[in-house]
Amino acid sequence: VKTLNVNLKDHRYPIVVGKGILADSGKYLDKQGFHTAPIVISNPTVMRLHGATLIQSLQSVYGNISVIKIGDGERYKNHATLMKIYDGMFRVQANRRSWILAFGGGVVGDIAGFAAATFMRGIPYVMIPTTLLSQVDSSIGGKVAVNVIQGKNLVGAFYQPSAVLSDSEVLSTLPKRELASGLHEVIKCGAICSSPLLRYLEQKLPEILKCQTKELEHIVLAAARIKADVVAVDEKETGLRLILNFGHTVGHAFEAAGDFRKFKHGEAVAWGMIAVLEYSREVGLLQAEEAARLIQLIRRVGPLPSISGISLESIWKALMHDKKFRKGDIRMVLLQSLGKAAIYNGIEAASLRSFLRRFIAGSHAFA
Ligand SMILES: NC(=O)c1ccc[n+]([C@@H]2O[C@H](COP(=O)([O-])OP(=O)(O)OC[C@H]3O[C@@H](n4cnc5c(N)ncnc54)[C@H](O)[C@@H]3O)[C@@H](O)[C@H]2O)c1
Repeated sequence: VKTLNVNLKDHRYPIVVGKGILADSGKYLDKQGFHTAPIVISNPTVMRLHGATLIQSLQSVYGNISVIKIGDGERYKNHATLMKIYDGMFRVQANRRSWILAFGGGVVGDIAGFAAATFMRGIPYVMIPTTLLSQVDSSIGGKVAVNVIQGKNLVGAFYQPSAVLSDSEVLSTLPKRELASGLHEVIKCGAICSSPLLRYLEQKLPEILKCQTKELEHIVLAAARIKADVVAVDEKETGLRLILNFGHTVGHAFEAAGDFRKFKHGEAVAWGMIAVLEYSREVGLLQAEEAARLIQLIRRVGPLPSISGISLESIWKALMHDKKFRKGDIRMVLLQSLGKAAIYNGIEAASLRSFLRRFIAGSHAFA
């Protein structure tokens, strides 16, 4: 079990990564100063697969444990579910000294974190992320949110957890597409600031795809460290933290154009990264061999749903909606070399549009 610390200006907390930490979570949390029972927020899928291990561990330290289960899926990350969580908390007489344990993927983490940020104006919470995506991305950085009809994650807060416990063993039950989706976020971390991580992924991809814990632990630690370091420098996303959006601006547009159903988040990001790599190459920023090498790694992760049927108009519309991507000042994260990203302002809309048209038309070459 390894620990890395997230060092923010006025808050410091550990991310613990390792096999078996779930079974030891009760003892660990007690040692960290959590001496009363948590209110666990999870979903039926995660509870069925891994709930017994968690509850047993917590019960051995805290006695009876209250669990609030929410619906499984992005469509439950909303206001109605939030009300259900508050209701459940009042029912078990939660108060200002209560704390929440979020046990699940990014959906559970985001909404449980938002509940923690707002219940009685803020109570502590701990994350036990159970998807690869949530272990390397959503559990780190304190962005918590719910979706509203106007868009995803539009109501939320920056609210940091007190600890994050990531057990690599729980990832063995993940559906293949979920594992692949998280892997694209790991690739992103390597692409923007760690060529050693990219080399490791190139070498160990077969083991990783077979969910071998040693290799999973290595990449979770490496990617979590990258995100934690970036967030420590720029907690509120005003500068450096933007590089974590590599592949995301275009990726989100694919995700929206696919009505948030066709692509998993990581798959859309994979397409976004391929597009930006091609664009970085086309404008002469990135060497062709480097772009090809990274695209090859992305493709080895698994098949991506096709983008060839997606209209340029729907993508362009989604891009123009993006709060990080405004007409007149198009800003994107581009790659200068593998492991080195930079933020570019003033990208010309017409040239990007023409690039995207050609990219979608030729996308079968990357499928
Ligand atoms: N806060 C942030 O900084 C941030 C960053 C990236 C993404 N997000 C958010 O994260 C969410 C996506 O997270 P996600 O990809 O983890 O999706 P998810 O939470 O929907 O989990 C994916 C699926 O896997 C299941 N699952 C979870 N753990 C499992 C396990 N160990 N074995 C088998 N199945 C398991 C879930 O029940 C669900 O069906 C989105 O809402 C996105 O907006 C937030």
